[in-house]
Amino acid sequence: MMSSVKVECVIKAGALIGEGPLWDESQQTLMFVDIAGQKIHRWRPTTNQSESVETEDFVSFVVPRVSGGYLAGMGRSIVAVEWSTQMMTSLVELDEDKPNNRLNDGKVDPRGRLLAGTMGREKRPAEVQRQQGSLFSVTSDLSVTKHLTQVDISNGMDWSLDQKTFFYIDSLSLTVDAFDYDSDSGRLGNRRVVCHLAEGEGLPDGMTVDADGRLWVAIYNGGRVLNIDPETGQSEPQCTCVFSQVYLWVLSGVPVVSGVPVVSGVPVGSLRYTCGFSQVYLWVLSGVPVVSGVPVGSLRCTCGFSQVYLWVLSGVPTVSLPVTKTTSCCFGGPDFSDLYVTSASLGLDQSERRKQPLAGGVFRDLGSKVVPQSRSLDKPQLYDVVSNL
Ligand code: BGC
Ligand code: CA
Repeated sequence: MMSSVKVECVIKAGALIGEGPLWDESQQTLMFVDIAGQKIHRWRPTTNQSESVETEDFVSFVVPRVSGGYLAGMGRSIVAVEWSTQMMTSLVELDEDKPNNRLNDGKVDPRGRLLAGTMGREKRPAEVQRQQGSLFSVTSDLSVTKHLTQVDISNGMDWSLDQKTFFYIDSLSLTVDAFDYDSDSGRLGNRRVVCHLAEGEGLPDGMTVDADGRLWVAIYNGGRVLNIDPETGQSEPQCTCVFSQVYLWVLSGVPVVSGVPVVSGVPVGSLRYTCGFSQVYLWVLSGVPVVSGVPVGSLRCTCGFSQVYLWVLSGVPTVSLPVTKTTSCCFGGPDFSDLYVTSASLGLDQSERRKQPLAGGVFRDLGSKVVPQSRSLDKPQLYDVVSNL
């Protein structure tokens, strides 16, 4: 019943901002970028061989092209990249009226269009000039459509299995949003909120959709990937604990499991939690952590809450990682059953760096092997890996 998720660091990339993981099916390689480190990386799991190319500007995503090579977001340009010669040719420039802007996350839609967003200048990670960004799509004839303006940090995107819904994250809104998507015209409409994170939980960042249509959302400054049902906005229960050292995991203000606690009980102790969350769940299951990870806050066992609920984990746990700046995720591997997660190190102070030696690495979650139903072979990302530009 309780499944323990094993997360391993597969690439000690030490990236400043590791981002945009993408499984290139034809090459059986994982692609990802280091935005501030200005590198595109390519890694082959079967041989553990890594290669990279340097870029002349911040590089925020990379996608394979139907015609060969890759497309990447560099600065404000969409650039064609020829890997073997390292030749890079700018195809389109976006936000020409906003020279301080740069591209951020980008993905290819079910029809091969590229969707890519921009953001204003960041003073520090996630401290951005507000509402400077936009969301664009670019088609194979290089025509550009602006879909959204006044975006803070344009981030995660993916499509529902029936291709009729586009999921999108503007990180500072703390929400995952959905739009109706017309894949013939590429038009977006009817924006609504799928899920709202509580203040202090971290920022929703990159995301992917699994073969059951559920969302996997990397939480920047949250050290985890939430698994969200797009119909209800509810994430799977997450948490952990070790008796000798109690970790408290805070989910959202909204109860993660609605209704009555699975096991109700006498408070196991009293605690005070110092962040401003309206509801706090303490999961004390056994001596063994259910998932390992970095605690999101500090906990004092002195007193405070009148009731502590014990929840029994079942189903697919959220994935916790030993780094806090988890940035994005994708499914990959020969049968698309592995979840790859990128992370950043930029913005960590010295003591955080000491505690998170793997920050900037790429992680693989093999938890899928115990929950195959949610990661089946028919992965929707099969269609979003190749740009027809
Ligand atoms: C964004 C980056 C940004 C970082 C910190 C990431 O998710 O994609 O562009 O620098 O978060 O804000
Ligand atoms: Ca991102």
